[in-house]
Amino acid sequence: MTQASLEPLLFDPYDYGFHEDPYPIYRRLREEAPLYRNDDLGFWALSRHADVVAGFRDHTRLSSANGVSLDPAAYGPHAHKVMSFLAMDDPRHMRMRRLVSKGFTPRRVADLRGRILELTLHYLDTALDKDEFDWIADFAGKLPMDVISELMGVPEADRAELRRLADLVVHRERGVLDVPVAAMEASLNLVGYYADMLAQRRAHRSEDLTSALLDAEVDGDRLEDDEIIGFMFLMVVAGNETTTKLLGNALYWGAKNKTEVARVLGNPDAAPGWVEETLRYDTSSQIVARTAATDIDVHDSTIRAGDKVLLLIGSANRDAEVFEDPDTFRIGRDSASKIASFGGGVHFCLGAHLARLEANIALEQFAARVADYDVDFDRCERVHSTNVRGLAALPVVVTRRH
Ligand code: HEM
Repeated sequence: MTQASLEPLLFDPYDYGFHEDPYPIYRRLREEAPLYRNDDLGFWALSRHADVVAGFRDHTRLSSANGVSLDPAAYGPHAHKVMSFLAMDDPRHMRMRRLVSKGFTPRRVADLRGRILELTLHYLDTALDKDEFDWIADFAGKLPMDVISELMGVPEADRAELRRLADLVVHRERGVLDVPVAAMEASLNLVGYYADMLAQRRAHRSEDLTSALLDAEVDGDRLEDDEIIGFMFLMVVAGNETTTKLLGNALYWGAKNKTEVARVLGNPDAAPGWVEETLRYDTSSQIVARTAATDIDVHDSTIRAGDKVLLLIGSANRDAEVFEDPDTFRIGRDSASKIASFGGGVHFCLGAHLARLEANIALEQFAARVADYDVDFDRCERVHSTNVRGLAALPVVVTRRH
């Protein structure tokens, strides 16, 4: 028995100490309580890789329809609409996912490569001109939302305002879990913006995803306007902050593991390995929730119908049953097919290709330009959330290659 395990095991996803370093708690959960029960907060938690993966696949018994966050009010009173088909079960979920997939194709994502590169170089070169910059404010907090705007066809003149609204939607003050009024107002403004844009595209089609969604058809069925707007909003919630935090976590862990990252700096071809190891070692979407649709027997206990069940993605990615030496940050592992970072089963992340493409391009360009860098860890600010893991501020000083 380890020293730590003499302490009572308490897993509280709201605890700031847990946010600082969740991995010792995850390890104890996997070892001591693979099905953990928190009576005060009213949830079960599955922490082993095999259980998390099985949980994602078991969409008939583990429902998404009551939301996929521990906090019922995570995005305000209209959360179910905002979360779109992420928070639906089949067959409603599958109908919408198939329609959206007609427009959001791998081809459309691949075609974005050139524009993502241009945006990356624009923000990166501006940031690198300074002696010190904030990787989140100057780069990682800008690129993902601009890429989503690019995809949907938002004019460049409006993008800064949409970034501001998207930031407000997800922003939470320290210690405040209720949705702030400013976040609700920003949600309404974003929805209003997308509704106007949709009306314009209905009158005049363009080459963008918004137009493609208007024309998407499966067996004579089409998306309603509200459904398209809901999906646009879902991308802002599911695809923006997660990618920003992934980019932040990559630089953070790179600076903590200098010998590892030294193999990438000056060698951009190795950058995708840096992205992949960050996704495994400290992923940005740590916890998703389900609701039991029926009684489920697991690990000698019974989860009752209606109970909340958390799938601990961050823990699954550190399971020694699957990953050798899991607590070591090692660039170049062959783990892409095993990580739980993008979920699994019918709700597998629709934007996984896009997230990887964006992050690969960003870190390739960083690696091509930077000989060495340091992070001012004392001035880093961590986001406190029951789901998203990452930094709100990440001051960086770089030594340029030339
Ligand atoms: C679903 C993670 C980027 C769009 C998911 C899920 C996870 C996830 C874990 C499954 C949720 C569940 O089963 O309840 C991530 C991470 C990202 C990322 C870690 C970045 C590092 C993106 C991007 C987009 C996107 C860039 C699109 C622009 C979606 C959508 C779903 C989803 C639409 C819902 C799929 C469904 O319900 O069928 N994502 N995501 N994600 N993600 Fe991502």
